[in-house]
Amino acid sequence: MTPFQSGIIAEASSDALFITLNVNKSEIKPFKNTLAAAPELIEGIQQQFPEAALHASIGLSSQIWDTLDTKRPQLLSPFPHIVGQETEILPTDVDLVLHIRSSRRDVTYQLGTTLFAAFGKSVTLVEEVNCFKYLDNRDLTGFVDGTENPEGEKRKAVALVDDEDPDFKNGSYFNLMRFVHDLAKWEKEDLKTQEDIYGRTKHSNQEYPSAEKSVHAHTKRTSLKDEQGRSLEILRHSMPFASLTEKGLMFASYSKNPVIFNRMLESMVKGDEQGNTDHLMKYTRATTGQAFFVPSNHWLMSLV
Ligand code: HEM
Repeated sequence: MTPFQSGIIAEASSDALFITLNVNKSEIKPFKNTLAAAPELIEGIQQQFPEAALHASIGLSSQIWDTLDTKRPQLLSPFPHIVGQETEILPTDVDLVLHIRSSRRDVTYQLGTTLFAAFGKSVTLVEEVNCFKYLDNRDLTGFVDGTENPEGEKRKAVALVDDEDPDFKNGSYFNLMRFVHDLAKWEKEDLKTQEDIYGRTKHSNQEYPSAEKSVHAHTKRTSLKDEQGRSLEILRHSMPFASLTEKGLMFASYSKNPVIFNRMLESMVKGDEQGNTDHLMKYTRATTGQAFFVPSNHWLMSLV
């Protein structure tokens, strides 16, 4: 078993299930017992289906943390409320998230249903969203998503808390947003307009040269640097969901520092100093916005 929960770092999957839950406050003791047992339960199902690349992570929000009667991760706070000129992002925090992914829909289901049963009466379901890999990892707007994600060992450096918060080492700050797309509006736009909105080409997935990127391009608004000029990065595991009537993206990202995600979202919604916002937001609407901390396996198992 890795010290960190395996859903954080593992490569992109072809199937994912996002489950959000609230905790019944009269059931905190059984809830903590299930959290403590979860790493072994997950490992048992991983061993049953070794070819399925099954991975999971369990995250707890700021609001549930205080009822656990343990120390808090230093930077854990609720999802931000961001008001832009055209868009408003509302926090919809819940207590718990299960992020489950694999290469087999049936195996993803198996772990989802097993964990939900293990939590039993200690939780109430808020939402479950099944996601799938669309073509060559494209969002339903037709653009490849995840290209500029960190690779190799850098994934750990970007996503995992290190010695800056020793009690929570190998944990990760997790953000989840459910976006519903207006594809009828998007598909009316010509190819050049769509490509300008991302700052990348659609079919060949090439990044625009920096000088040709619009200040409103999604990749411009989310490419941020710190005071020393170093790139601020997150590790994204977003995936599409769709029914015949509702289509969108579950945006999911891990980071060792949640301020990075918050700054990116502000840059998209409030824009830069001149108020230039992310024009991708004209074609999609966030229906949820949630912030969690995904603790290490060791932390979970020490809860008993
Ligand atoms: C890049 C899609 C929301 C952060 C991208 C790319 C696509 C995409 C297609 C270009 C390829 C790549 O992954 O590198 C979307 C869609 C969204 C969404 C469809 C919602 C409907 C967000 C949000 C954030 C974000 C909410 C963070 C707050 C990033 C970052 C990059 C990126 C950091 C890489 C930028 C770069 O270095 O070039 N996104 N995204 N995205 N996105 Fe998003």
